[in-house]
Amino acid sequence: MTDADGRKRDAARAAVERFVRDGATIGLGSGTTSAFVVMRIGELLEAGELRGVRGIPTSESTAALAREVNIPMVSLSEARPTLTLDGADEISPDLAAVKGLGGALLREKIVAAASTTGLVLVADATKMVDALGTRSPVPVEVDPYGWQATLDALSTLGCKPSLRTDAAGPEHPFVTDGGHYTADCAFEGIEDPTALEAAVKAIPGALECGLFVDLAVAAVVAGEDGVRVLEK
Ligand code: A5P
Repeated sequence: MTDADGRKRDAARAAVERFVRDGATIGLGSGTTSAFVVMRIGELLEAGELRGVRGIPTSESTAALAREVNIPMVSLSEARPTLTLDGADEISPDLAAVKGLGGALLREKIVAAASTTGLVLVADATKMVDALGTRSPVPVEVDPYGWQATLDALSTLGCKPSLRTDAAGPEHPFVTDGGHYTADCAFEGIEDPTALEAAVKAIPGALECGLFVDLAVAAVVAGEDGVRVLEK
């Protein structure tokens, strides 16, 4: 395991220990850090150290992993998450985040927003930034219909948008679990994430924005000096 993976795993274990209680319904995020969260919850359930925990997955890949480690799952039609544990691509000091490089931002935001106590971000320390948009593009999930026009409209917000493609090559748009495309929007730093999120969502065809503002109540961050819990 690389150092980076070790930190993701440390953050995941600490987050589960601190925030997951018996009987909770947990929104299960997507991406490599969230995978460590899912595996840890599965381990603790199997060992009998956690009881009655259920998951609401934010992607098909997370659902597959949760099934593999025997976490019972429910959907938003049956329950609401007590809280959601999810990774991030960037986290600012006030716990706003960029998410979506893993391709699941729409479902991640739906599940996080439905969580009764909110979202807990889980990350290695490389994800901490002074200002959002300085390290990572902001992913925007877009409708395939007229995506070229949607990307043109996004570019008027001061970014360079590019359509995400998949491993099959540049002619193959990456398709999300919901059947949508993703535009990765490169900014040179974002001054007002709240205003930008609203501007993105005002564009017809832009279905959801990878800026997660005022959703996180805490972040569990693992670095060289150990694990820190940042709370709002
Ligand atoms: C998935 O769509 C993303 O929001 C991930 O949570 C984010 O990209 C972080 O992924 P890693 O934990 O793999 O770095």
